Amino acid sequence: MRIVLVGPPGAGKGTQAAFLAKNLSIPHISTGDLFRANISQGTALGKQAKAFMDAGNLVPDEVTIGMAKDRMDQPDAEDGFLLDGFPRNVSQAVALDEALKAEGVQLDGVLDLEVPEDEVVKRIAGRRTCRNDSSHVFHVTYSPPGEDGVCDVCGGELYQRGDDTEETVRRRLEVYHSETEPIIDHYKAQGLVVTISALGKVDEVTRRAMEALKKSS
Ligand code: AP5
Ligand code: ZN
Repeated sequence: MRIVLVGPPGAGKGTQAAFLAKNLSIPHISTGDLFRANISQGTALGKQAKAFMDAGNLVPDEVTIGMAKDRMDQPDAEDGFLLDGFPRNVSQAVALDEALKAEGVQLDGVLDLEVPEDEVVKRIAGRRTCRNDSSHVFHVTYSPPGEDGVCDVCGGELYQRGDDTEETVRRRLEVYHSETEPIIDHYKAQGLVVTISALGKVDEVTRRAMEALKKSS
């Protein structure tokens, strides 16, 4: 299956993607995680991306599209993938359409996670992320790590992401409404969008998402 996950910052895309990718046996591809891994490794790509991310703006398409395509070209993504955070504007969506067409394949669905803005702010304010791997995500109240306060998956130190400050979150939400939401109409025109509420417990949302994806494909 080839799926795109879309939703505002803090909606729970990364959290859901981890479970959905496992259930569907496809790789979870997060452009945010790829950028953060490049930043922590000090690569040239990471250096290019950092200032945009810290300001809550999109990293330019010239950098992002190439990175996403390289990841989708890896052997583990040959038969499917779950994209989280890509595409994030209409030009990225068009680039993805063209890349898939060139391969003779297509998307099976676009899962749109709906969460009210006040809930998103609560989720982001309490998020703690693992220094070793930013796909290991916790929440101080909703999904707390073990008593020792380190990552339950790998024992790594937990920290608050630099772009999770109030000011940057406000900017990320603005960017979501102006740049990313239009991709939902782009995909609605292709009959691909399924919208679910991402409120409720993590496993309830996963169940809802699996059912919606089954119906859509
Ligand atoms: P990215 O990393 O993609 O950030 P985002 O889209 O803002 O999404 P988040 O990671 O903030 O949230 P999420 O929806 O994954 O929520 P999570 O599961 O962590 O992008 C960061 C930056 O990179 C961008 O601003 C941009 O600069 C750049 N970038 C990335 N992709 C790009 C692209 N394609 N083009 C250009 N630039 C790009 O959950 C949040 C919290 O809620 C956690 O604490 C979690 O434990 C908790 N939680 C999750 N589910 C629930 C639930 N059901 N109930 C209660 N709590 C929950
Ligand atoms: Zn970890």
